Amino acid sequence: MSSDIVKGDTKDEANVVGIKVLEKNGLDVKQLVDMLIYNASVEFAAYYYFTNLRMHCTGFDGESIKGIIEDARMEDLSHFESCLSRIYELGGMLPNDANEFIAMSQTEFLQLPSINKTDVKEIIKKCLKAEQGAIVNWNKVCNVTAGKDPATYDIAKDILREEIEHESWFLELLYGRPSGHMRRKYPGERPHTKKQSRSLNF
Ligand SMILES: [Fe+2]
Ligand SMILES: [Fe+2]
Repeated sequence: MSSDIVKGDTKDEANVVGIKVLEKNGLDVKQLVDMLIYNASVEFAAYYYFTNLRMHCTGFDGESIKGIIEDARMEDLSHFESCLSRIYELGGMLPNDANEFIAMSQTEFLQLPSINKTDVKEIIKKCLKAEQGAIVNWNKVCNVTAGKDPATYDIAKDILREEIEHESWFLELLYGRPSGHMRRKYPGERPHTKKQSRSLNF
């Protein structure tokens, strides 16, 4: 093999061809890893907060909403799982301190409504804001990796596809805007990211 990208730089440093080809493609790998860790923190925190929000969908109004929030909640768990192996393949790692990981997500807005914790409309507004933020986050990863890093792009575009569906569900609930919503066959079906989060094993 003659290519310089398959030669290690030092005896001690692993020669990671999977990273070197990306650098040759003009990708800022460090920036991408930071984006993926941030996005992972948002997905993880959203999964947590959606759990509590869902529990507070009570009464006649709440009962019909629970299933929709559950579908979105389980798919956020899938989104967290979907980007983990890519972070480590690219030389990154999750923060050692879990508090730091949650804090970087800046998702405090997903805490329960302050005046009435079971205000279903307020809960749906919070869910919508989370989905719209996730669309922006994963669209950024798509833009950075398009034509340069097909492995990460494949993950980001699958997650983005589900986030767009989630947004449309909550838009329909709030504004009556038809979403073409086909209910998931079961919570966690994750039609687009199932192959990216095989560790969930369902
Ligand atoms: Fe998500
Ligand atoms: Fe989502």
